[in-house]
Amino acid sequence: MQGDIKIENFSVTRGKFRLKNINLKIKSGEIFAVLGRTGAGKTVLLESIIGMYAGKTGQILINGKMVEGIAIVDRKIGFVYQDYQLFPHMKVYDNITYGLKMHKKSKKEQSEQAENLMQLLGISYIKDQYPCTLSGGECQRVALARTLALNPSILLLDEPFSALDPATKQKMYQEILNIHEKFHCTIVFVTHDFKEAQLLSNRVGILLNGELKTIVNSNELLTSSYEQDVEEFLGRK
Ligand SMILES: Nc1ncnc2c1ncn2[C@@H]1O[C@H](COP(=O)(O)OP(=O)(O)OP(=O)(O)O)[C@@H](O)[C@H]1O
Ligand SMILES: [Mg+2]
Repeated sequence: MQGDIKIENFSVTRGKFRLKNINLKIKSGEIFAVLGRTGAGKTVLLESIIGMYAGKTGQILINGKMVEGIAIVDRKIGFVYQDYQLFPHMKVYDNITYGLKMHKKSKKEQSEQAENLMQLLGISYIKDQYPCTLSGGECQRVALARTLALNPSILLLDEPFSALDPATKQKMYQEILNIHEKFHCTIVFVTHDFKEAQLLSNRVGILLNGELKTIVNSNELLTSSYEQDVEEFLGRK
């Protein structure tokens, strides 16, 4: 199944930090939220899914195959970083078509794909601007368009809404849901916001100090009972 993620007993060490024995299955087409404090390992978890690190233990399977055994161009995993990481020396249009160029798509294909995505995300008016001239919300849309250009079957979004004002956030929630409906991709997103996790996801994982403490259906997030540390994280004890 396209977009399936299976993490089996996966551990990885980054400096003094350890992501510990993660077990998680995310079904194709699911929207999964990762909640956790700063430094809990949320970004390391997403980077592990994309295949950036060899695990100390365990494995990560994408559609049943070990991620490191799949050629990068065939992984079909899109990653939108916390700080968007747009190419500063390229205009918006060139940021969006960069990956298509790397995949040797024709100029016509590049332009059609970019125009469609810019229209979908409402950013056609900034196509000739450089990233340094954009607002946070615009940067985020460009980063999303750049990632979606390659038709990922898995979309990893690292704190996609945290830098946005409340009104823009609301708009982006809807846009993410529209993208999910249109592209049928699996979405894993990181957030600090319980309400956001509940509103957008099917299930939520709570990551504390490198451990995935619990996985719960998002509509049960605030009614379930948990171990002490999760209760504290949720601000209940
Ligand atoms: N390359 C690295 N070298 C050393 N330590 C690292 C490296 N990458 C991550 N870490 C450490 O791993 C821990 C988890 O980092 P991570 O970026 O995953 O946290 P996070 O949950 O995404 O936090 P935030 O909400 O602030 O983004 C941190 O203590 C960080 O300093
Ligand atoms: Mg992070």
